[in-house]
Amino acid sequence: MAPSLVSPQCYYISKRNNEASVSEEAWEKAYQIYNDFVQTLPKAKGWTTQNVIKYQGFWLTPTSALKGVLLVQHHFKPRPTDIFLATSPKCGTTWLKALMFATMNRSSYDFSSHPLLKNGPHDCVTFIEVNMCQDYPIMNLELLLSPRLLAAHIPYDLLPVTKTTFGCKLVYIFRDPKDVLVSTWHFMNKLRPKKLQPLSLGEAYELFCEGISHYAPFWDHVLEYWKASLESPDKILFLKYEDMKREPSVHLRRLAEFVGQPFSFEEEEKGVVQKILRLCSFENLRNLKVNKTGVHRVTDEIVVNNCDFFRKGQTGDWENYLTDEMKQRLDFITEQKLKNSGLTLGSSNRNL
Ligand code: A3P
Repeated sequence: MAPSLVSPQCYYISKRNNEASVSEEAWEKAYQIYNDFVQTLPKAKGWTTQNVIKYQGFWLTPTSALKGVLLVQHHFKPRPTDIFLATSPKCGTTWLKALMFATMNRSSYDFSSHPLLKNGPHDCVTFIEVNMCQDYPIMNLELLLSPRLLAAHIPYDLLPVTKTTFGCKLVYIFRDPKDVLVSTWHFMNKLRPKKLQPLSLGEAYELFCEGISHYAPFWDHVLEYWKASLESPDKILFLKYEDMKREPSVHLRRLAEFVGQPFSFEEEEKGVVQKILRLCSFENLRNLKVNKTGVHRVTDEIVVNNCDFFRKGQTGDWENYLTDEMKQRLDFITEQKLKNSGLTLGSSNRNL
């Protein structure tokens, strides 16, 4: 059985305040139980860590993701008004965070002095599994005003809030797995510690096809959210990166409506949709000082350069990396996995 972890935040707060609510012994015991538990789980080669481990059907890093998932499962307190951005890594999370943050807070900020001009999108919208692993979180989830905008890479079945009785709404973004693979390969090699050899594209490809990457198998992650979105379309909005690239304003309006904040006639007249799209565009965000030189502190050990969240921001870049054979095999796997689901690759009006 999975252990119930002591939250690092509770531990450090009680230590700082000299309280006994979480003692050193309780902390150490919880982590001994955790480490023993990790030893019982299946292992495979990792992308940014020596190994990834399989927990309830999904591959996670033992150092952060598994801890984060367990902490969320035991300590996260959902609110019915919460809005979640759920994604598999490298599918467009950064863009979605920026768009939703700008949309939901559009009456609070002026576009000329917007928080997104000074802060990376990942510092504006936190991943709950990362937040709960941090000793000193960048934002206190309990103090955030409702409706809270939160993000998660956690698979649908492992995310406690997805049981719709909580009433939360959730936006998911899907992307062509060939582009996800190429994007993941570039990104994970940047995060990969120097003591580990860089992953070659061939190795990354094999791992990805076998379903071994962060919060993967990719297709299982997608299909769980896809099926849930068909069952509860009012609670789960399922988007495609390719559709958003093709018709960003259409999908931004859908997003605003979905969270109950449609653009008014006056806002349309004032060009608010275009202003949000411009602010959150790849070109604009990538060229901001904060995203050129700033960092995003995931944990004390994991610090990401903001510039690494902005690579090309295009659809179809896989063509520059994958051979015909690699493309065909990956498309075949996708076709098999998505068969009979109603979900297809590419923009919504064309098929594989
Ligand atoms: P590429 O590596 O193909 O360029 P995530 O945010 O989930 O980590 O996904 C990262 C991918 O989204 C990267 O893709 C990145 O360049 C792209 N991206 C980041 N910001 C974007 C934006 N504002 N618009 C479109 N794509 C963006």
